[in-house]
Amino acid sequence: MSNGLRRKLTSYGDQGFSLFLRKAFIKAMGYSDDALDRPIVGIANTYSDFNPCHGNVPQLIEATKRGVMLAGAMPMVFPTISIHESFASPTSMYLRNLMAMETEEMIRAQPMDAVVLIGGCDKTLPAQIMAAASSEIPAIFLPTGPMAVGHHQGERLGACTDCRRFWGRFRAGEIDEAEIAEVNNKLASSIGTCTVMGTASTMANLTEVMGLCLPRAGSAPAVESERVRLAEETGRVAARLAMDEAAPTVRDILTPQTIRNGLVALQAMGGSTNAVVHLAAITGRLGLRLDMAELDRLGRSIPLLVDLQPSGQHYMEQFHEAGGVPALLKAVRHEIDGSAATVYGRTIGEIIDDVVDEPGQTIIRTVEKPLKPIGTIAVLHGNLAPRGAVIKQSAASKDLLQHIGRAVVFDSVEDMTQRIDSDDLDVHADDVLVLRNAGPKGAPGMPEAGYLPIPRKLARLGVKDMVRISDARMSGTAFGTIILHIAPEAADGGPLAIVRTGDRIRLDVEGRRIDLDIDQAEFDRRMIDVVNRPSPAPSRGYAKLYQERVLQADEGADFDFLQSEELDAR
Ligand code: FES
Repeated sequence: MSNGLRRKLTSYGDQGFSLFLRKAFIKAMGYSDDALDRPIVGIANTYSDFNPCHGNVPQLIEATKRGVMLAGAMPMVFPTISIHESFASPTSMYLRNLMAMETEEMIRAQPMDAVVLIGGCDKTLPAQIMAAASSEIPAIFLPTGPMAVGHHQGERLGACTDCRRFWGRFRAGEIDEAEIAEVNNKLASSIGTCTVMGTASTMANLTEVMGLCLPRAGSAPAVESERVRLAEETGRVAARLAMDEAAPTVRDILTPQTIRNGLVALQAMGGSTNAVVHLAAITGRLGLRLDMAELDRLGRSIPLLVDLQPSGQHYMEQFHEAGGVPALLKAVRHEIDGSAATVYGRTIGEIIDDVVDEPGQTIIRTVEKPLKPIGTIAVLHGNLAPRGAVIKQSAASKDLLQHIGRAVVFDSVEDMTQRIDSDDLDVHADDVLVLRNAGPKGAPGMPEAGYLPIPRKLARLGVKDMVRISDARMSGTAFGTIILHIAPEAADGGPLAIVRTGDRIRLDVEGRRIDLDIDQAEFDRRMIDVVNRPSPAPSRGYAKLYQERVLQADEGADFDFLQSEELDAR
């Protein structure tokens, strides 16, 4: 039997008095003793006026509460931090760990037998999974779902690959102020998360692949009734979890097999590179290391199957209509461990067995007839990335995957912003744009600045893509030949710090290499200066904590003290 309100009593030195006081206070809300004797399902409320991606959270909470009560438990809603990509300065990534800490501690501090975590915008689901992976009670997740597609002059529009595409056209002078303003009105045509295979869609789909939310909950549109019914069913499942002493926790569900299933799906769906950082943080909470070699191997053997922007053409509502995650898993069934458990009690194999093919759909391809013959993400190493880097090869220009070019170096995001559009910038189409000091510590917060804009003078000449490398991240909605997450970052002694404008950089995606083409003696000489130049830490507050304790991208940019202690022992 669950403990409900008796869990986690506040410490007054008298347990009986603690419960008496707790009940006295909560009765101010009008609860009966019957209600207060029920198992409690906590529901994390991430609604915020600053977060349109969570605009449907109030409706989802109501439906979840209904499901909890229909199943005989007691729902209790509590607020947590909410993070929207465009309303978090300096970056949403800077706040992800704060949200994970806060959510974990609120789950731990308050009396609940199970918890429903409602999230959606890029960093929220990862933060919530990190939190739940560090908690002891069962959890089930409810993504908010993707927004509806908009239209402009006969074209479909969706945030936010089209945001970048139209902004690029505006920068190149192809469209005027009036048209870009009109597009601005239409890019996000409803509440919900970005509707391409960006980070939010990727993480929602992976939450489903890893068995942490109900089937189809990863992709059902934010504004459709199916999403609300899924919320009600999520509430019912949460109530069952709350009543079952032996219910699995997130740690029980997230096994190495489950994580590997996630990597398979990531490669097949054209998922965001940000997912690699988040999965590394999540596995760190479990005492595991994300197997980057396996991720890369899967990228060679599993082709891109899903025709969604930015690697393809379509949007999340088409993916959902085509069968969503279960249909995708069926397409890669040979690589999936079907015995993987889910939080709702079935195995992933059983979900796949239930899939009824959608006749005529072309969004989710087969391995025999993929969208592209390569997987989504390749993992690179080399003298510029001793601990690794990633490229979304499915969204890169084929003719740039093997490239040698002259480096044009920007020392920071600010430096890049000030100089990139200058007519005086010495830059050519076959150069390699280098951005450094934009990693977890350098910026700080590892901004999505890796998608360096094409210098305006080249954009005007019709240049659409260049090789760009950085220790930053990139939005999952972006595209181009862009090497990201170089670790260690320049601000933490990484060799990106020694690159000089005019050096030659060699990219070999097939060989999985990214190298600075200078002789070893010169390389070593320059590195001595770097390791002797530590970056300054802020003097107080969360900024100080972040700067001192954040890990590098290959470790998920989590805080070192939040990873599982077991990891240290391995
Ligand atoms: Fe929230 Fe894209 S801005 S999902």
